[in-house]
Amino acid sequence: MNTPSIDFALYSQMPEAECHARIRAARAALGRQVVILCHHYQRADVYQYADLTGDSLKLSRLASQADAQYIIFCGVHFMAEVADIMSKPHQISILPDLAAGCSMADMANLAKVERCWRELNEVLNAEEQVTPVTYINSAADLKAFCGRHGGIVCTSSNAGTIAEWAFRQREKILFFPDQHLGRWTGHKMGIPLDEMMVWDPDLERGGLTPEQIRKAKLLLWKGHCSVHQMFQPAHIRKFRAEHPDGLVISHPECCFEVCQLSDYVGSTEHIVKIVKEAPPNTRWLVGTELNLVNRLAEEVKPDGKIVQFMSPTVCMCSTMQRIDPQHLAWTLDNLAAGHVVNHIKVPEHEAGPAKLALERMLAVS
Ligand code: 13P
Ligand code: SF4
Repeated sequence: MNTPSIDFALYSQMPEAECHARIRAARAALGRQVVILCHHYQRADVYQYADLTGDSLKLSRLASQADAQYIIFCGVHFMAEVADIMSKPHQISILPDLAAGCSMADMANLAKVERCWRELNEVLNAEEQVTPVTYINSAADLKAFCGRHGGIVCTSSNAGTIAEWAFRQREKILFFPDQHLGRWTGHKMGIPLDEMMVWDPDLERGGLTPEQIRKAKLLLWKGHCSVHQMFQPAHIRKFRAEHPDGLVISHPECCFEVCQLSDYVGSTEHIVKIVKEAPPNTRWLVGTELNLVNRLAEEVKPDGKIVQFMSPTVCMCSTMQRIDPQHLAWTLDNLAAGHVVNHIKVPEHEAGPAKLALERMLAVS
């Protein structure tokens, strides 16, 4: 195709109604060449176009099973990378806005993880004693690091199973980048808190003494999700005081105390399932991103269920929010005109070992 791709400037101020008309027309023209995958946090005006939805684990499986030539990922960057790695060579993974990153994923990078590995090797034999486990919320080069060093990827829905696998390989785990998911997983396995040490990547040897490193079963990278850190134990105590029969469900990216005070802790898919399957007329306090909570509240309202958001302030995944109808319309119009925009392509030298770590995860979970 010789015509140049269509500039996003033409779409940035486009009225919503025109965006929606364009999205519908381009989808009709493209038919089964395109599949749209949406994470549960995606805003409602984009989520309505989802062919497939889910949490990170489900979406990674769906991406590996998709037949469409173009996989449009309405999520964040690492999710589109996983779709590229797990899909077939002729398939193309697209992220409608390249600025849709994950701030937690950015809290670890390859240089810092390699430095950590070197520093661990000054105290231990890391290759023999430590299994690196990366949360799927991480860049492809960190998944590749795990693939090369006998490690694995986990998601919020399989972290316990993956940690058991990791401990069967070696006696310790280096878990990055989310300390909260790591700590909650370790706690559920019965590991005492004083055997879970926080590794601060900005300090020499993670800020730990050699004795602390030798004693640690689980080394937790000092990273977190800025959305989930907004949920506090005080929010749960207030809810319980006002609604003694109410139930609390949280995502494991919430801090330890919030998870401890919750009746249920699980992935986004798990949260949706538990609340939908709950008896009618129950009341729920939900500690995860606002778009999911608002959607869930509407869906279960006919059963008399009341779903409340955990924080008094608005907590959205502001990066995922960047995928708006304007970006989706621009992406689809370009595809219909024969142009691929925002192609997410993981370089071969990273994709191979990253796939190994992802396939280990899919085989185990
Ligand atoms: P889930 O895998 O539970 O959907 O979590 C992804 C995520 O980024 C939560 O903040
Ligand atoms: Fe990343 Fe937090 Fe957004 Fe999840 S909610 S994608 S962890 S920034």
